[in-house]
Amino acid sequence: MATNRTFTMIKPDAFGEGNAGAILKMIEEAGFNILALKLTKLDKATAGKFYAVHKERPFYMDLCDYMSSGPIIAAILEKDNAVADFRKLIGATNPKEAEEGTIRKLFAKSIEANAVHGSDSDENAKIEGSFFFSELEIIND
Ligand code: CMP
Repeated sequence: MATNRTFTMIKPDAFGEGNAGAILKMIEEAGFNILALKLTKLDKATAGKFYAVHKERPFYMDLCDYMSSGPIIAAILEKDNAVADFRKLIGATNPKEAEEGTIRKLFAKSIEANAVHGSDSDENAKIEGSFFFSELEIIND
C-alpha cells in the first residue's frame, strides 16, 4: 500500500557545516510536514546496521565511518507522493549529477558526503523510520 511518508537524514557533512537549518527550511517550503525529528550521533555499528543493504558494496566501510563521524538529524516527513517528491527535492546521489536547485546540488560535498538521505520506496521509508523512532515519537494527527 502506498503511503505519504518518507524518511530522511541530514548527514554529518551538512550538519557539521551548519546547513541543517537551511535544509529543513527547503524541506518545509517544499510542502513536507515534519512528523518526527531527532538530533543524534550514530556509532559505527549502528550506521552499519542502517546501511546493511549495502554491506557487499566497496564503499560500505567508508560509508559507516563517514555516517558515524558527526551528528546527524533523522526525520519522518509527510506529503502526498512523499518518497518520489522528496527524492526529486534532494537530487541524484552523486551531487555532480544532481539538478540545479536540489539539496544535494546546493550542499553535498561528494557522492559519499551527499548531505541528505532519502528513502527509495514506501517499504524502506517505514523500515528506516522505525529504525530511529518509536510510534510514540511520531506525530499522528
Ligand atoms: P544514501 O542515499 O544515503 O544511500 C547510500 C549511501 O551510500 C549514499 O547515499 C551515499 O552516501 C553512499 N554511496 C552511494 N554510492 C556511493 C559510491 N559509489 N561511493 C561512495 N559512497 C556511495
